[in-house]
Amino acid sequence: MNTWSTADMILLLLSHTVVLLRVSAQHNLTPFGTATQISTYSRGIPQNAIKPPVSNAFSFDICTHTGIVSRAPAWWMFQFSFGIAYITDITIYYREQYASRMDGFKLYVTNTSTIPPEGYLCYEDPDPGLPNITQTIPCNQLGRYVIYYDTKEDSTYGPIIELCYVAINGCRKGFWGSNCEKMCSEYCIERNCYPGNGSCIYGCNTDNCLNDSCNKFTGICTDGCMERRTGDFCDKYNLAYDSSVLINPNSRYPGSLANDGSKISCSKTKGPTVTFQVDLKEESIVTGVYILFGEHNTKVGSHTLYASNTSNSWKTGTILFEDQFLPTRINVSAVFRYLTYVPPSQGTSAELEVCEIGILGCPPSHYGTVCNKLCPGNCNGPCDLETGNCIFGCLNGWIGNKCEQACQDGKYGKNCLKTCSANCVNPQCNKMTGECIGGCNDGWQEPECTQKCPFGQFGKNCSEFCHGCISQMCDHVNGLCDNSTACKPGYVYDEYCNTTCIDGLYGSHCRQICSPFCLHVPCDRTTGECIGGCMSGLQGFNCMQVSVNTSECDDEVLTRTGIFSGGILIRIFMTVVVCYVIRKKRQLQNKQSKEKASTKTQSCSHDQQHYDDVRMENVSTYQDLRKDTESSEYDQINTAYINH
Ligand SMILES: *[C@@H]1O[C@H](CO)[C@@H](O)[C@H](O)[C@H]1NC(C)=O
Ligand SMILES: *[C@@H]1O[C@H](CO)[C@@H](O)[C@H](O)[C@H]1NC(C)=O
Ligand SMILES: *[C@@H]1O[C@H](CO)[C@@H](O)[C@H](O)[C@H]1NC(C)=O
Repeated sequence: MNTWSTADMILLLLSHTVVLLRVSAQHNLTPFGTATQISTYSRGIPQNAIKPPVSNAFSFDICTHTGIVSRAPAWWMFQFSFGIAYITDITIYYREQYASRMDGFKLYVTNTSTIPPEGYLCYEDPDPGLPNITQTIPCNQLGRYVIYYDTKEDSTYGPIIELCYVAINGCRKGFWGSNCEKMCSEYCIERNCYPGNGSCIYGCNTDNCLNDSCNKFTGICTDGCMERRTGDFCDKYNLAYDSSVLINPNSRYPGSLANDGSKISCSKTKGPTVTFQVDLKEESIVTGVYILFGEHNTKVGSHTLYASNTSNSWKTGTILFEDQFLPTRINVSAVFRYLTYVPPSQGTSAELEVCEIGILGCPPSHYGTVCNKLCPGNCNGPCDLETGNCIFGCLNGWIGNKCEQACQDGKYGKNCLKTCSANCVNPQCNKMTGECIGGCNDGWQEPECTQKCPFGQFGKNCSEFCHGCISQMCDHVNGLCDNSTACKPGYVYDEYCNTTCIDGLYGSHCRQICSPFCLHVPCDRTTGECIGGCMSGLQGFNCMQVSVNTSECDDEVLTRTGIFSGGILIRIFMTVVVCYVIRKKRQLQNKQSKEKASTKTQSCSHDQQHYDDVRMENVSTYQDLRKDTESSEYDQINTAYINH
């Protein structure tokens, strides 16, 4: 469809201003189209009828003239360049003194250029009598073509058409006003309205109007709106519909009458302190508030609208509106849960009547005027209610107004600002989390590969351990010990310290030999402890004590002791002492059990004497034997020997 260009308008102003003023208050549409006719006689071309002068005076240069030989019906046709127009009326200036040729003409508005015309017959010149050569014919029809049609033959010639001027008044479809400058309401069905007053031609669109009722001139829904709609045309989403409305003080006309969609039912109250509060049930982005007040309101004084996130401390919230008149339509841009209106208080009492409340906004993750569009999936929170842009940014891994673009390879995170770790095996990583795809280089912890291996670990996936290094300190990548001079006891020295002592040896640099009394070799490589147990009759850390359960200090112990080389004398001595201690201990045990039955004092001094002897011979640890007979003393004895 063509649009009305500036050039058209200028042309109109220059050449037709006079015409417009004289012809009609309505807009003449003939500058916006072309004329044709069945045939042309002399210079009487079809365009002559749509160009000034506006008169009935004849000349071949200012009026049309169809051919004179044909007996066929004559026609003149105008076609709008922009498509369809609503034609209110058509004014015709016919050649003066030739009403006889005009006699019996017909005027059509059609959508096709078919001849004979197929469409709406606006007018047919009646019989008898001759027509007025200047006529304004009302038509009120939508169409693409205007056809002047004449079948009646002249006395000497066939039908002839001689139009000196034609004005077609109306507006392009969808517009109205004296210059067709206003758009018909979108709530008029098919957006058709009368050019004169803009009222809907086929009625108003009641789709969202309560009770299907709308004002056919304005399209405004008269009774109110259907569910979740608000605004004059009920074309906006109403957050208040699902809210709860409270008026204070309570009355027979509860708050719910203000969000039921109906303009007819109103919530009313009266009292010293009056409030009207809408609870949206969750914090919501709000772009506007409509309040339709009833008749009973205290008007004089200050009217205040508060927005708050709490119901009781609304007064500390944001003031959305404060003025000396009733607020009816307010554009806001706020996030809140509670909207509270406080009317002015007149002395002891205030009166309030609210028929409808509309709160513009959308339920979470929706946008659009009726909130029927879903916010983009990668928005971080709600989106702009108009554009759907992600106003609170994107989820990690996405960028763009609608967060529709994934981060480029190698980038990740919020706004794609982070770079994948250089320690990733692949240069790419998960765009949301930064986790390396394909794992980390040696020495780095999965999944992000930004942290070195935990202490004491190294290598691929940090799966290797450098236990042998001093304090477990080693390079996180290759495992080389940080201390390059020694290993922990139990490990053979090399730069990795990853070889343990050979069986039978232990300690620093593996220089010590496991106890000969260990039942199994190896002993603990770090401490030398006989971890596999002791030979029969012995016990303790390195099996240097005689076991309580041993029947006697048998030959095997002595033999072994003898065989073992190094410190032989000390060991023999030690063995003897140990055997002695064991015997004494047995005696003590026997005696103690007897003492429990008989007197305590009897043999006490005797035993005491023995112990004293032992103490003299041996280390002080023996003292402990007196106190109890648990096995722990042996460990102490043992410790004493080790320390020796
Ligand atoms: C021409 O078409 C429009 C819709 O496209 C219709 O409303 C109108 O009635 C039609 N006019 C005629 C004369 O048939
Ligand atoms: C013819 O039309 C003119 C202008 O519209 C009007 O003044 C006049 O009275 C009309 N004459 C007849 C006979 O209808
Ligand atoms: C309500 O809370 C939101 C944040 O959750 C805040 O942005 C907003 O400003 C608060 N509204 C009011 C009126 O305090």
